[in-house]
Amino acid sequence: MVDPVSVSLGATLTLLLVVLHYAKGSGWEPRADISQEVLEQRAETVPETDFPEPMNRSIGGGAAGAIPAGEAEGELAEGGEDEADEGFDPDAIAEDEVEYYEVEFEKEGETIEVANNETILDASEDEGWDLPYACRQGQCVSCGGRIQEGDALDYVRHSNNEALFEDDMEDGYCLTCVAYPTDDFTIETGEQP
Ligand code: FES
Repeated sequence: MVDPVSVSLGATLTLLLVVLHYAKGSGWEPRADISQEVLEQRAETVPETDFPEPMNRSIGGGAAGAIPAGEAEGELAEGGEDEADEGFDPDAIAEDEVEYYEVEFEKEGETIEVANNETILDASEDEGWDLPYACRQGQCVSCGGRIQEGDALDYVRHSNNEALFEDDMEDGYCLTCVAYPTDDFTIETGEQP
């Protein structure tokens, strides 16, 4: 026969042991937050990348965000017309200094006069021609055109160029959205390097 007094005494002792165990604690301590340390260690193992890469120019505005402005400018300007373009502001051309040049649009089969404070793209749109473009800020090559006479930099200057390399311009390519004429020339629109 079970003695109820023994059972309750046993249960009480067991309960007491459990309470004592938890009151003492397990001795576990949380570790300090090392997430920042881990992130820094991992960052050190990732090699630096050499932006800009040639293909980046097709990304458009995004590329401008990814490339520190100074570096991108340096690479594009190296020995190129961009140095001459630096600081070129078409709005600074006084009224009596505005000059006009004959620009022949080969595909459109027409020659129009374009002012030196007007972009090739704007002038063509005034004619009602629907030429390609995207950013209108010299950051992609959507509006690209090719000057037939040779080095584009002998015929236009860019107010901004973040997409064409020196070689491209030597081959006659220009960005019509930011290109202002400095001479007469023939251009084939819708041409990218
Ligand atoms: S439209 Fe993007 S460079 Fe001209």
